[in-house]
Amino acid sequence: MNTLESRLHAAVARVRENWRGTRFIDGLEPGPAGTNALLDVARLYRANRLEIGRLRLLGGRAVAGLFFDPSLRTHTSMEVATGRLGAHFVYLQAGQGGGGTWSMEFEDGVVMNGTAQEHVREAAPVLSSYADVLAVRAFPKGDAHDREERVIRSFSAHAGSPLINLESALAHPCQGLADQLTLSDLGGGSFARRKVCLTWAPHPKPLPQAVPLSVVRAAVLGGADLHVAAPEGFDLDAEEMERARSFCADTGASITMTRDPDAAASGALAVYAKGWGAEQRGEHTERVADLGHWTVGEARMKSATAFLHCLPVRRNVIVTDAVIDGPKSRVVPQAANREPVQAALLLAWLL
Ligand code: CP
Repeated sequence: MNTLESRLHAAVARVRENWRGTRFIDGLEPGPAGTNALLDVARLYRANRLEIGRLRLLGGRAVAGLFFDPSLRTHTSMEVATGRLGAHFVYLQAGQGGGGTWSMEFEDGVVMNGTAQEHVREAAPVLSSYADVLAVRAFPKGDAHDREERVIRSFSAHAGSPLINLESALAHPCQGLADQLTLSDLGGGSFARRKVCLTWAPHPKPLPQAVPLSVVRAAVLGGADLHVAAPEGFDLDAEEMERARSFCADTGASITMTRDPDAAASGALAVYAKGWGAEQRGEHTERVADLGHWTVGEARMKSATAFLHCLPVRRNVIVTDAVIDGPKSRVVPQAANREPVQAALLLAWLL
């Protein structure tokens, strides 16, 4: 075993000392210590990825990625991380007909005489019989099952292999883990006690809260002084905020809620912009029409260090060209950090 391989094994052992879980669904599962250990694996991978690629550390393993919704970054970074580690990635477009999987049923006890041909009770264990890790993306569908995260929770209940949520109604944990890496890069290795601003920004659609809630979880796990700015009627999910807040005592994080985006952005290590839907979904379009001043422009960024967004982003709606093309924009290295954190998860489970 060469030195790099030994260092990776040691870093993975530190993850396992702190986290033995096989589900990464909301991103809080590894806790602060497990998350820090995962980030150390990610840093090691990022600094040595070409050499790691030659080691084929996960040769013979397989990862199945099941996508109910589109993706540019998540699909690519997951497939590249898997391939660089020597494992095989299977991309599955869920229930799309043509080259996709069968349409899936998630309800128990249902008479399947409608459009769905396959039940998750068979699909999940069958995929687990081929793949060592199952990764699923399933956005909310605007029905009563969104809140219970039915698709990802059903796969979790019936999959025999470790499972990664690649974005669901309430969580985008790989984005959150990558954002922790980006924030720690900005902070010179840590962002504990540093001011981080999460600001609502206009978007024509009432987007789900998966990303902003994952930013909150990431900030709390990393011990940030988090300032969340949102207009009245756009507050983040109270139950999920309370769960995140319960980690503050452990990590030294704090959360301040405000209606003033300039105050939230002032002096921040990062201004993280994201659009999400109005609490009264039917009022979203009307409300957004009056909230153009929430677009992140140069004045708001004046005393902040960096601009972040998960991408894809609507230019000159969420953020002006001047900011996203300017020297404070870190959106590309932020997206690049998706690969090492997902590689870290695979290594933690499969090395
Ligand atoms: N940020 C993110 O998850 O991008 P994709 O939707 O393109 O995967």
